[in-house]
Amino acid sequence: MKTLHSIQALRDELAVYRRAGKKIGLVPTMGNLHEGHLQLIDLAKQHADIVVATIFVNPLQFGAGEDLDKYPRTLADDQDKLTRQGCDFLFAPTEDEMYPNGRSAQTQVSVPAISDLHCGASRPGHFTGVATVVCKLFGIAQPDVAVFGEKDYQQLMVIRQMAADLCIPVNIVGAPIARNADGLALSSRNGYLSDDEKARAIALRATLNQTAQALKAGEKDFARLQETAQQQLETQGFRRDYYMICRQTDLQPATATDNKLVILAAAHMGPARLIDNLEVSF
Ligand code: PAF
Repeated sequence: MKTLHSIQALRDELAVYRRAGKKIGLVPTMGNLHEGHLQLIDLAKQHADIVVATIFVNPLQFGAGEDLDKYPRTLADDQDKLTRQGCDFLFAPTEDEMYPNGRSAQTQVSVPAISDLHCGASRPGHFTGVATVVCKLFGIAQPDVAVFGEKDYQQLMVIRQMAADLCIPVNIVGAPIARNADGLALSSRNGYLSDDEKARAIALRATLNQTAQALKAGEKDFARLQETAQQQLETQGFRRDYYMICRQTDLQPATATDNKLVILAAAHMGPARLIDNLEVSF
């Protein structure tokens, strides 16, 4: 696998393959790769001939007081994992390469409505930062296909809408959530948890399952289900962020007549803010 740090170097490499008619797959990440990321690489390989992973801890998507500075940077280890996984290129730019005129001078991409809900309400500006960097990565690599994890359910919808609204010709593929043996969704932020916190964090997934069962049994009092779930998470040591039963189409609060739902949850366990979700359709 070749690691490239400049936009021009990546473009020069990819141009050769594009001219040869090869399909290019992109897997944007912030590094500190775990099994879930490696599954994204595998999925990209199924859809493309050449796979490019990117590692960039994007400052634009972190709010003041968030974990930008302590976000784990593990480039050498990540390179080994990507090489073993059969990734072809790693694009690992510096902040200067991505934002040469500084963060505040960067043109931003903001996706209306959906960006303000849920994670966007808890982390103002977060999805504008995500949409901006992903739009740039699409412009840099010009991939035929790009793969993102479904753990970040709302992020995936923001990116799909951004690509559709800006007419970016890329096929966006979602990858199922990767979990550890206990059901905890894999996340780079799990590394912030102690063993005890990790053991208690599995309550997030278990609570989603219980809410889903109640929905399938015909429960329509969503506010009550949400409150019960929040209280249950609190008894396991979580601090509240949000827990919402939404419609899959636009992530607005579900109503009793909706039949394609998704439960979106975010909660704090010790130093980590964890997210998870579960689709429920009847
Ligand atoms: O999901 C992530 O790791 C990031 O939000 C992404 C999509 C790589 C953009 O920085």
